[in-house]
Amino acid sequence: MATWSAPGKVFLFGEHAVVFGKPGIAMAIKPRVFVTVRKARQANVAKSAYIEECFRLTGVKGSVYVRSQLPSSSGLGSSAAVTVATLSAINDEFRLSYSREQIAKMAHSVEKKVQGRASATDTYVSSFGGIVFIAGGAKRRLPPADIQLIVGNTMISHNTGKLVAHVAKMKESYPEIVEPILNAIEGVAMKGIHKFQAPKELGMLMDINQSLLDALGVGHPQLSRMILAARDAGAYGAKITGAGGGGSMIAVYNKRHKNKVVKAIESCGGKTVITSIDSEGVRKEKE
Ligand code: PMV
Repeated sequence: MATWSAPGKVFLFGEHAVVFGKPGIAMAIKPRVFVTVRKARQANVAKSAYIEECFRLTGVKGSVYVRSQLPSSSGLGSSAAVTVATLSAINDEFRLSYSREQIAKMAHSVEKKVQGRASATDTYVSSFGGIVFIAGGAKRRLPPADIQLIVGNTMISHNTGKLVAHVAKMKESYPEIVEPILNAIEGVAMKGIHKFQAPKELGMLMDINQSLLDALGVGHPQLSRMILAARDAGAYGAKITGAGGGGSMIAVYNKRHKNKVVKAIESCGGKTVITSIDSEGVRKEKE
């Protein structure tokens, strides 16, 4: 029997713009998915298409038990975390000797197979943890920083593929408007890299990134309510994380206002998690 766990993720800056080769910054967060795999002569019915695909890819048979601290379809990378943890538990239980890099790549192929399209960001961040700088397909881990966040989940599921297609369509129809927006998102992300230790400025940059995402039409009234409420309650800044159209938002906060910000988001119907960086990535758990 082998139990492994993998973390979720948020986008600090640059979602959607990364699809067009602009830089993005993602960070692994503390909530995890735990997966236990046990050798079995007969596979039990897989709990998800992701898990099924992990077994198909590795060609082994086993039973699986999943426990998750991450809500699904919330833009927090839960499917990537399930996939990375499942592949790692299979790797361990069946002594397949895949490296962490290989696990990250295999997890990306599983996500692509199941979702039709998937970026490698979620699976990379979940495998390696920390803060990851993405630019034109390349990924680099940045030095870890003590970034404290409140995550607010709208509980409205979103379809990343549809939102990505919407932005692509807008870019095609209005290049003279959308390209400067993407360039501005790039500017924000590049400034953001230097502000991880400066929550006030980090928050201000997140607010700008949020306005630009709204301009791309990937907002949602519920996200806007939660973001405005968080700012009103004293957050340094707040924005969508991930594809938008539902899913989750993040807020950077001043410790003095933490409870007020949490209450404000919840009073709009959001579900909150107070979290910070996970710098471990996928890890083996005690059985
Ligand atoms: O909502 P999520 O976690 O699927 O994030 C999507 C991020 C996008 O930039 C919109 C798409 C991508 O592939 O990077």
